[in-house]
Amino acid sequence: MMNLEKTLETKIPLKLRADGSFKMLMVSDIQEQTTIDPRTVPAFAAMLDRVRPDLVILGGDNVDGRYVKTEAELRTYFAAILPALEARGIAWAHIYGNHDYDADVTPADQMAIYGSYPHCITKTTPGIPGVTNYVLPVLDEAGEPVFLIWAFDTQHYLADQIPILADKEDVKHKNARYKLPNRPIPQHKFASPVFEQQMWYWQTSCALEEKYGRKIPGMMVMHVAPWEFSLAKENPAETGLVGCTEEKLSLSSLNTGIFTTILQRGDVSCIAAGHTHADDFTAEYCGITFALDGCGGYTPKGNDECRGGRLFTWKDGELTTEMIRYIDNEK
Ligand SMILES: [Fe+2]
Repeated sequence: MMNLEKTLETKIPLKLRADGSFKMLMVSDIQEQTTIDPRTVPAFAAMLDRVRPDLVILGGDNVDGRYVKTEAELRTYFAAILPALEARGIAWAHIYGNHDYDADVTPADQMAIYGSYPHCITKTTPGIPGVTNYVLPVLDEAGEPVFLIWAFDTQHYLADQIPILADKEDVKHKNARYKLPNRPIPQHKFASPVFEQQMWYWQTSCALEEKYGRKIPGMMVMHVAPWEFSLAKENPAETGLVGCTEEKLSLSSLNTGIFTTILQRGDVSCIAAGHTHADDFTAEYCGITFALDGCGGYTPKGNDECRGGRLFTWKDGELTTEMIRYIDNEK
């Protein structure tokens, strides 16, 4: 039996502003290493001062776990990045990306480090694949949810979600972890929300509709975008694509069906993802907005024009979005 109260509970309640608006800033792929580029934290902090968001979502690849590996290294790393949020009293939450899974500390154990920060409101849903699966409600004056932010963990690689794909003889070699004999698109080893995650979303959404007598609008955040983002890129005119598209989308080789589930359920109007560093486009497909943010750190490969975050504003029943670029901090 689902405990809806617990599902909706957040350490810090998220409330609409007096003018009825709510601002969420998504910042993905900070992905710094043991030495942090000296431009990253000041640019991140200046962006927070420009935007003054009500909530920040760290959209995965928050750390490059290939380099920042141990618990002590992770603690030192987050102690350099996260005070920008904490000092400003901004509620924030995170989702994991593939590089967060590269560290020697498991994502479940990394939760203790994140959770030790007073303004971290990340949650977890037991019993489904991944760690950072949760929903954050934005509340009106009466304390009722008016907008939902659904968060999903896209884990490390496909084989982590679908064990039958793992090549046990060569599990350490990233590109060999699959039993996809004629895998046509080699870079697409990444994952997408799977059935149990979608089932949790579906059941929670239905239970909320029953409790409040209406569907509650919302958006989804995940590190790796669903397969349909590639259709937007292939059909820019038809999908009204705007923004940077210079990087290859590194998606999943399998379409796990999350987009179809959203369409069928009919309460999510936007999917936001990170993972790419130089792509930051928006597009619309079947009435759903696709949004990629750029890159939150200066060390990861990318394009300095696209570094920054993406702002989502909910107001009067409408969700709008815009890229917030570090290069505009000084203007
Ligand atoms: Fe990534």
